Amino acid sequence: MREFCKRTHNCGALNKSHEAQEVVLMGWVQSLRDHGGLCFIDLRDREGITQLVLDPQRFGNQIAELKPESVIEIHGTVTLRPAETINSNLPTGEIEVQVKDLIIHNICQTLPFPLDEKAEKVSEDLRLTYRYLDLRRKPNQERLRLRHRAANVIRNYLDEHGFFEIETPSLFKSTPEGAREFLVPSRLNPGQCYALTQSPQQYKQMLMVAGVERYFSLAKCFRDEDLRADRQPEFTQIDMELSFIDREDIYELIEGLIAKLWKTCLGIEIKTPLLRMPFVEAMNRFGSDKPDMRFGIEIQDVTQIFKGSQFKVFASVVEKGDVIKVLKVENFADMTAGELASLEQTAKHMGAKGLAFIKVKADEWKSPLTKFLSENEKQALTQQLQLKENDCLFFMADRWEKACNILGKVRLEVAEILKKRGVLTVSDQDYKFLWVVDFPLLTYDEEQKKFVATHHPFTSPVREDIPLLKTDPHHVRGQHYDLVLNGIELGGGSIRIHSTELQRFIFEKILNIPQNIVEDRFGYMLKAFSFGAPPHGGIALGFDRLVALMAGTHSIRDVIAFPKTQKGQDLMSMSPGCVEPKQLRDLGLQYISELIR
Ligand code: AMO
Ligand code: AMP
Repeated sequence: MREFCKRTHNCGALNKSHEAQEVVLMGWVQSLRDHGGLCFIDLRDREGITQLVLDPQRFGNQIAELKPESVIEIHGTVTLRPAETINSNLPTGEIEVQVKDLIIHNICQTLPFPLDEKAEKVSEDLRLTYRYLDLRRKPNQERLRLRHRAANVIRNYLDEHGFFEIETPSLFKSTPEGAREFLVPSRLNPGQCYALTQSPQQYKQMLMVAGVERYFSLAKCFRDEDLRADRQPEFTQIDMELSFIDREDIYELIEGLIAKLWKTCLGIEIKTPLLRMPFVEAMNRFGSDKPDMRFGIEIQDVTQIFKGSQFKVFASVVEKGDVIKVLKVENFADMTAGELASLEQTAKHMGAKGLAFIKVKADEWKSPLTKFLSENEKQALTQQLQLKENDCLFFMADRWEKACNILGKVRLEVAEILKKRGVLTVSDQDYKFLWVVDFPLLTYDEEQKKFVATHHPFTSPVREDIPLLKTDPHHVRGQHYDLVLNGIELGGGSIRIHSTELQRFIFEKILNIPQNIVEDRFGYMLKAFSFGAPPHGGIALGFDRLVALMAGTHSIRDVIAFPKTQKGQDLMSMSPGCVEPKQLRDLGLQYISELIR
C-alpha cells in the first residue's frame, strides 16, 4: 500500500478526450471563486491550470480554510464545460473537474507579495527573500525550463561532436592572474588556502595533455568581483577545450551550437557564419570590444582636422600623437541641459577631461568651441561627417583606447535617451551576433606600468608575430576571440601556448612575473608541456548570460535559481553569515574585529 496517492495527470494535461474519466490532481490553489451555488478553484502545477468545481454544501468547511497557494489533492470526474464557459486561452479550457474528494496537504499563510503580474512591481530584495515563492511565478518557471532545455541541447550537441563531459575541482589554488578570488582556508593544512576556481582553465589544459582531446563541462566559476546585472560571484560557464584544432574549428563549432540552441529553444534561425570584426575596428566604430550592433550611431576619427587648431586642448592632443574621436547623433541638437549633463557625467566618470559638443544649426553652430573653430575646420567637419541641420556632435580627445571607450559609453547612453523618446527601436529579439577577433596579445597597464595579458597568459600569439615579442610586444596579435551578442560578451577563448619555453618566456620576460612565483604557481603546467602536449585551444560561454539573452531579460539574476544581490548576499538563506569562534580556531583563523567594522 502506497502512503501517497499517485497523480493521474498534471494540471495542463486534461482536455475533452478525457471526458468522464476519474482523475487525481495535485497542485497549488491559484484562485478561489465562490459563485454561491458552486465554488471554482483554479488548480495549478508546473504544467498548467485546471478548473475544479466543488459543491459548497459538501466542502464548505474545507473551502473556508483554503487560501491561495495552499497545496491540495483532489479526486474527481472530468466533465465538459458548458459552451459559454469554454476558455480557449487554456489547453484545459474545454473541461473542468467535478471534485469528489478534497485533501488539503498544506495551508498557505498570507503571502508577502502577490504572485501574479503585480509581483513585477515588488522590490527584487523582497522577491529574493522569498525566492521559493518568486520562482512559482510563470515567467520564472519558464526561465528555469528554458535553462534546462538549453543545457540539454548543449550536452547533446557536444556529445555528437565527440566531447567528454568531465568535472574538474572547484577547490584549486590561488594564481596571480585574473579576477579577485574567493579563498578557502584548509583545516588539514594550517596556514594554507585553496582558491575557488575562477574557471577550469588550467585543469582543462591538463586534460588536453592527458589525451582527452575534447572536453566540456557546465562548470561553476567563482569570482569576487563587483557585481552588476550581468555578473554574479558564482556563475556557470559552458567550458570546452579541444586538441589539434585552429581558430576556424572553434568558430564553426560554436556557430553550430548557437544555431542549434536558437532553433531548438526559440524556433529562430540564426544565419551562419557569423560576422567577424577585428578588435581595432570594433573600438573605432563602436567604442567597445563588445559592440551592440542593433543600431548605428558610429564613432568617427577627426584627429587630422584639428592639427594645429586654435582650440589648444585638441591641438595638444594631436601633437602628442593621441586622437580626436567624434560621435554624430542625428536630430539630437535639441538635447536638454539635463541630458547633456548626464552624458558629461558618464564621460567624466570614465576619466574624461570634458565632453565637447556642437549642435549643428542652419544659422550657427551652438558649442563651447565655436569661438575657437576656424572656417576650414567647420568645412572639413561638415564634409567628412556629412553634417545636416540638427545633428549633434560629441568629441573626445584622448589616448586612442580611452577616447574610443568613453564615446562608446556615450553612444549607449544616447541610444537609451533616443529609445525613451520613441525615435529609436532596439529589440531584444534582434540577435546581432559577432566574433571580435585580432585582439592584441598584451595590453599595457598604465597603473602597474607593465604588460598584462589581454585575455589570459595561456593565450598563444599569432605564429608569425612570435619574433615581435622581443622587439615590439605592443604589436603582437593574440589568437583570442570573443563571441558578442547585442553588446554583451557571451564568451571568450583562445588557442593556447603548448610549449614550455614560450609559456615560460611570456610569464617571466613579458608579464614580468618573478621566476619563483612562476615556479610555485605554474611549475606543474610548464612541466606538463614538456611531456607531450598537443596543440590545443578552447572557449567558455557564459551560460547565465546566454540563457538571459534567450529569455529576453537583462539581468542574469532572472535565470539563476538562487542568485545573489549586488552585495553578494543570498537574502533567502541569509548568507554569508557569521561562524562560531571554534570554527575559526579549527582553521587557525581569527578576525581582526576593528577591520570588520
Ligand atoms: P572569461 O573570463 O572571458 O574566459 O569568461 C568566459 C565567459 O564567462 C562569462 N562570465 C561571467 N558571467 C557571469 N558572471 C561573471 N562574474 C562572469 N565572468 C565571466 C562571460 C565570459 O565571456 N577560461 C577562460 C575561457 C577560455 O579561455 O577558454 C575564461 O574564463 O560570458
Ligand atoms: P575648456 O576650454 O576646458 O572649457 O573646454 C571647452 C570644451 O571642451 C568643454 O565643453 C569641455 O568639456 C571640452 N573638453 C575639454 N577637454 C576635452 C577633451 N580632452 N576631449 C573632449 N572634450 C574636451
